Amino acid sequence: STQPVNLPRISYKRARFPALVSNQRNVSRKPVVCTVQSVPSIYSTTDVRISKTSEWKALEEHAKNVILKTHLRDLVTDAKRSEKLWAEFDGCILDYSRQRVIPETMKLLFALAKRAQLEEKKEAMFRGDKINVTEDRSVLHTALRAPKGTQLYIDGMNVVDEVWQILEKIRTFSERVRNGQHVGVTGRPIKNFIAIGIGGSYLGPEFLHEALRTEKVASAAAGDRVLRFLSNVDPVDVKRATDKLNPEETLAIVVSKTFTTRETSINAKTIKDWLIYHLGDSAETIKKHMVACSTNLDKVVKFGIAPENMFPFWDWVGGRYSVCSAVGALPISLQYGFDVFERFLQGAHSMDAHFRYAPLEGNLPVLLGLLGVWNMSFLNYNARAIHPYSEALLRFPAHIQQLDMESNGKHVNIFGEAVDYPVGEIDFGEPGTNGQHSFFQLLHMGQVVPCDFIGFIESQNPVCEEGEPVSNHDELMANFFAQPDALAFGKTAEEVRQEGKSEWLTPHMVFTGNRPSSCLLMPVLDAYVTGQLLALYEHRTAVQGFLWEINSFDQFGVELGKVLANKVRKQLNESRYFNKEISGFNHSTTKLLNRYLEGSVG
Ligand code: F6P
Repeated sequence: STQPVNLPRISYKRARFPALVSNQRNVSRKPVVCTVQSVPSIYSTTDVRISKTSEWKALEEHAKNVILKTHLRDLVTDAKRSEKLWAEFDGCILDYSRQRVIPETMKLLFALAKRAQLEEKKEAMFRGDKINVTEDRSVLHTALRAPKGTQLYIDGMNVVDEVWQILEKIRTFSERVRNGQHVGVTGRPIKNFIAIGIGGSYLGPEFLHEALRTEKVASAAAGDRVLRFLSNVDPVDVKRATDKLNPEETLAIVVSKTFTTRETSINAKTIKDWLIYHLGDSAETIKKHMVACSTNLDKVVKFGIAPENMFPFWDWVGGRYSVCSAVGALPISLQYGFDVFERFLQGAHSMDAHFRYAPLEGNLPVLLGLLGVWNMSFLNYNARAIHPYSEALLRFPAHIQQLDMESNGKHVNIFGEAVDYPVGEIDFGEPGTNGQHSFFQLLHMGQVVPCDFIGFIESQNPVCEEGEPVSNHDELMANFFAQPDALAFGKTAEEVRQEGKSEWLTPHMVFTGNRPSSCLLMPVLDAYVTGQLLALYEHRTAVQGFLWEINSFDQFGVELGKVLANKVRKQLNESRYFNKEISGFNHSTTKLLNRYLEGSVG
């Protein structure tokens, strides 16, 4: 039988930090001039491009002459070295001794970080300088989790006050819904939530929801409430989102920064029609059953959502960095209560303060970022994998994939020149141990892909099977501890032969090893730790962008496909309903479109 056991709870000291007080109104600082021709002031002192500096060259030499001549098998057995490649903060342990680095490598990477003015760029971000130069915007997701009372003035406004005004509005609204003061149009309590959004307006909240769903405090607070996400414009996703939900008890949350994204507009309209069909076409139906998170009040109102039912955020919050804004706050507070969301913000803030104030040498996000740059730009590993040994983090890899690939998937630097070194890894991952039975064959014997292993000391749901030597969580974690060593050490032909394998089989069973990875060991996946983890990876992405001298905060790459889809949409419509011929496309697209039209009923 499966019996929950009461494992001893371990308590972890949570760090306390000074509030992120930075640029008070009366503190003068140089204005940042951002025009088409200029870059943020922090880059204006950069006379030599990063890849032309002596620090970069030193790392190239070091890679060639030292690291590429070593094997992790030899490095990892050096206990003194391993001791140095370890950092801890607020319950979060980073062991990077299985990366292809030695302390000298780290010294050279810190020198590169200094040359790239990492400290100054980091500070410019926290201070609210308009470092997203192509869109002339601040990058202030850290302000979303700053404690109440923090002063951070942008264009004469204390943005943290604004953040907290909206958070309080969300607290009040979610409490009214949860305690039955806000009911549906037929008088029934609301207990189902459909969050409609895509990309950054979806992946963050979904990963957070999954992380909390099985957590003790959060799941007790959720009760029998249901939170679902509707992101894909595929009509099948509408079916999945609404399946077996009673519209009388359902609230739809339209999440869109711009409120112009086609997929979200269409899905929002479909859900509006679904509500009207079941509950009647009245202003009251929409008022009781639809709310929005956006920066675009005009469009929200035009759609029919009452202004008081809009929960705003700001242009200085990038979509993929928006989970700490109303984008995550509203669905998560409705489902789990505001207090749970606040714990998540506190965890993220703890990591923010660490990132901002800790010296580079022990700074977790900086270390992860430097290792990312090292692996990609100096060792030429162009992918990396993330393996949370936690089923509750099943959507974390997808969130990090968007966060990182939409941020650092660039071909020009901040000056608009082509980058002449590799930037922007391919990120992917799956929870362990499932990933082990999927793509780990390639990780062990195929291409080299640096890995992040994320594990927890305690399970969200401790279970011990009678007759088994270890608890289920220990079983999971045995794999977490084993895989990084298997990747690092591999297995030599000699070792295979010693196992009695035949000569012809031996090469098939050799593991070359020397495959780098990092281990992150954290206490237990609760709201606070989830916040730490989120901020850790957000800042890793920023560090890499800062070092690579690229703008990690725009995403023009998603535009071209959207424009072409508009052209296709127009022609599909004209061909289907006005018998116009498909034209203006290449041969292949024309043929595909005609076959689609022949076979489809529209
Ligand atoms: O995928 C492109 C993108 O612009 C993302 O950056 C963004 O998170 C997503 O689309 C959704 O945008 P919006 O929140 O404006 O609907």
